[in-house]
Amino acid sequence: MEKLVIKGGRPILGQVEISGAKNAAVAILPVAIIASKGKCIIENIPDIEDVNCIERILEDLGCEIKRENNSVSIDSTNIISMDANTEDVRKMRASYYLIGALLARFKKAKVDLPGGCPIGVRPIDQHIKGFEALGATVTIESGAVKVEADRLIGTSIYFDVVSVGATINVMTAATLAEGTTILENSAKEPHVVDVANFLNSMGASIKGAGTDVIRIIGVKELTGCTYSVIPDQIEAGTFMIAAAACGGEVTINNVIPKHLESISAKLMEMGAEVHEGGDSVTVKAKGRLKAVNIKTLPYPGFPTDVQQPMNTLLCISEGRSIINESIWEARFKHVDELKKMGASIKVEGSVATVDGVDKLIGTVVTASDLRAGAALVIAGLIAEGTTEILGIEHIDRGYPNIEEKFRSIGADITRVTI
Ligand code: EPZ
Repeated sequence: MEKLVIKGGRPILGQVEISGAKNAAVAILPVAIIASKGKCIIENIPDIEDVNCIERILEDLGCEIKRENNSVSIDSTNIISMDANTEDVRKMRASYYLIGALLARFKKAKVDLPGGCPIGVRPIDQHIKGFEALGATVTIESGAVKVEADRLIGTSIYFDVVSVGATINVMTAATLAEGTTILENSAKEPHVVDVANFLNSMGASIKGAGTDVIRIIGVKELTGCTYSVIPDQIEAGTFMIAAAACGGEVTINNVIPKHLESISAKLMEMGAEVHEGGDSVTVKAKGRLKAVNIKTLPYPGFPTDVQQPMNTLLCISEGRSIINESIWEARFKHVDELKKMGASIKVEGSVATVDGVDKLIGTVVTASDLRAGAALVIAGLIAEGTTEILGIEHIDRGYPNIEEKFRSIGADITRVTI
């Protein structure tokens, strides 16, 4: 087991490179198996545990996977199984993207129900609704989702809730359906657009991704391609918030500034300076920032995935902030750990009231999930004294080389084996 040890209270300064987006990569890799001919070469893949996990899952299904630096090649021409039932499948959320891809290509799949971060109930009713509307029979049998269809036929589907996963999964299944599918009330997240662009590079015909209406004209088959994953909006947002919290000046490179607008706007409202470059943002802050209210919303609203890191910054901001978490009802597991460090936070249902304190004090804390871990790293960076973070396997699922990246901008953070 490992832990992170952080000696806090130093400003962070310099430049940091953002990796490829986790939530795009963990969708694109399983979706790649839809190609019945040729290899997919996916570039800008982040070096994280969730990607390793997906690679193992794909190998178990019979894909040939080769990893070279940040590039992964997937040859799925000789897939031997449509039944994904390993421990890896059960522990990962994104394994559900296998359902859409296998259903499209083979008209059948059996995939164990997915796991993921413990941030609330994670239903898949909208995925099922979409697959059924396309003509599939869906059953849940001994903890697995079983889908089968003689034919998939394009249709109009209106999602009851805005869901990233359902949008990607049903869009994927519809690429090989007969005729036209229209998805309404679709998610607009950058990684939805990235998966659509990837599928189009394989020969699909998808228009409108990034708006709430996506139109897919079914094609006969998809073939391998070379594709590069977009930069990680959430990793970038985490570094932006860290820079604002530590009172430093950090240029965050390899980003799409447009994807970060809701985060930039909040940091500026708090009194930080944010300057956008072509593919970078620079965040500069000095002293205590002002409290603000946050409501998490689907893109382009404030992302739920940076709510927890933002909560840390609000802990030391001046005044009272209200956080309204409207996507995941249990995304406050970091709060008790922040309280151990001196934070004043009260959670009632999906709302947290944060009263800013002068400082946090280092202690031993435990990450309960991925973004809780990121929130605790930022807390350690600003706290007086030493913070030890346990449960860092959650952080490694989604942040590549987090300690090296923070060290490169002046943080005193080390990984220690325990
Ligand atoms: C994706 O999860 C991300 N995960 C999450 O990232 C992220 O928090 C979430 O989107 C929202 O942006 C991956 O991409 C692997 P949803 P997903 O379907 O697809 C409800 C992180 O930290 N819903 O958009 O599972 C659901 O309960 C993580 O990187 C239904 O009701 O999220 C939630 O309230 C964790 N029925 C809302 O929709 C459904 O069928 C949004 O969920 C599906 C979802």
